[in-house]
Amino acid sequence: MDLGCGTGHLTRKIRSLTNGKVVGIDPSRGMIKEAVVKSRGLDIVYEIKSVEDIDYEDTFDVIFCNSAFQWFKEPEKTIKNCYRSLRRNGRIGIQAPAKKVYCPNFIEAIKLVKRDKMDYGNICPLQRTMVLS
Ligand SMILES: C[S@@+](CC[C@H](N)C(=O)[O-])C[C@H]1O[C@@H](n2cnc3c(N)ncnc32)[C@H](O)[C@@H]1O
Repeated sequence: MDLGCGTGHLTRKIRSLTNGKVVGIDPSRGMIKEAVVKSRGLDIVYEIKSVEDIDYEDTFDVIFCNSAFQWFKEPEKTIKNCYRSLRRNGRIGIQAPAKKVYCPNFIEAIKLVKRDKMDYGNICPLQRTMVLS
């Protein structure tokens, strides 16, 4: 699942890396409209939805979120929704400007995960970096 997928630039890259189901979500109707047009013929499901409203359970192996977390209004709810959406041993990769001045939500979310490992799962050090763009 690609959170805050925008026009699907990276969602399409993800599509090329897996045979699994690929879902892109974004609350912007305009972004999703463009993503759908640009992804014609590719097996990608796009949903006009905010991360705060996702209700997947035990569905995804990987959640990807590039340059969007800083816009999410409720980091605790976001992390809970993501955790619920992931399968056992699933992983989330978040890229965000990790500076308080740009992205206080991200710093807050990392603190929550560190504070309460039982609720949110364990933090793994980044083992491999994949450059998609
Ligand atoms: C800078 S764009 C990044 C787009 C894409 N991830 C990329 O890297 O090309 C940030 C995106 O986050 C989306 N966004 C903002 N608030 C959101 C929310 N609450 N839930 C999901 N996406 C959100 C915006 O609509 C926008 O498309």
